[in-house]
Amino acid sequence: YLEVIEKAATKVKTLLAANEKLTKPRVMIICGSGLGGIADVLHPDDKIEIAYSEIPGFKVSTVPGHAGKLIFGLIGFNKVPVMCMVGRLHFYEGYTFQETTLPVRLAKKLDVTTVVVTNAAGGVNPVFKPGDLMLIDDHINFPGLAGYHPLRGPNLAEFGPRFQPLSDAYDFDLRKLFYTKAKKDLGIVRNIHEGTYFFAAGPTFESRAEVRMIRSMGGDAVGMSTVPEVIVARHSGLKVLALSLITNAGVGEKPPSALTEDPKPLDDGMASHEEVLEAANEASKDVQKIIEATINEL
Ligand code: 6GU
Repeated sequence: YLEVIEKAATKVKTLLAANEKLTKPRVMIICGSGLGGIADVLHPDDKIEIAYSEIPGFKVSTVPGHAGKLIFGLIGFNKVPVMCMVGRLHFYEGYTFQETTLPVRLAKKLDVTTVVVTNAAGGVNPVFKPGDLMLIDDHINFPGLAGYHPLRGPNLAEFGPRFQPLSDAYDFDLRKLFYTKAKKDLGIVRNIHEGTYFFAAGPTFESRAEVRMIRSMGGDAVGMSTVPEVIVARHSGLKVLALSLITNAGVGEKPPSALTEDPKPLDDGMASHEEVLEAANEASKDVQKIIEATINEL
């Protein structure tokens, strides 16, 4: 695996040599479903796009709404050099965690220090409404607890320790900066919560009983990404800011009973990929602005 990482890094460094302003990205941004527009805030004059297909070891994204390229560029008034991942790879696509998290290892090789991760997620906390944002302050790695873990296997000691603690995974100062930029500097009225992201392997959206289980376990939002990347980032000492856009409410009520004379009809809707992309698209301008203002300070 070390060789795979090395080859990918060598190739990307070669391509980046074309523009010296872009050779040392400080921040990696991982764009969630429908949030690829974050790359639109990069300064247009200094930009290098690399398709995953050009990078040895990289898999290609198979999900509609996920393009599959790295965009290197500069962000904000301070022109902070960043590496933007548009189109992430998911475990449910059939890839291993080593494959889905390879871009984070690459980022470390390029001397990135901070990872900003975004995703579209279902609201599990009953207070959350579609369009709300949630700063992730903790997670539940459900597949991980059962053995499907991105750090399973021989430890890559040149990146980090065998037994990585995760009690401080979501950087306090970065969350504070994001919230301050959004509310004080930009006057964003959208709700911003803080909470626990529950990682489910997918690809199905949760059943009603699963939503109740996740709620009882302490999950505030549920999604199919982010946690593997965050764990690999923390393993190699990268700071993490992670944001969920709540695109839909997870449905946790019991289905109508067939045993009663007048069952309550099924009227509380169902999660769909279209609904997820629509909500993400609606909120993406706000998310772009806050992320730009936040990274500008890094
Ligand atoms: Cl409801 N569940 C999961 N697992 N992922 C999601 C989602 C729900 N909504 C957006 N992404």
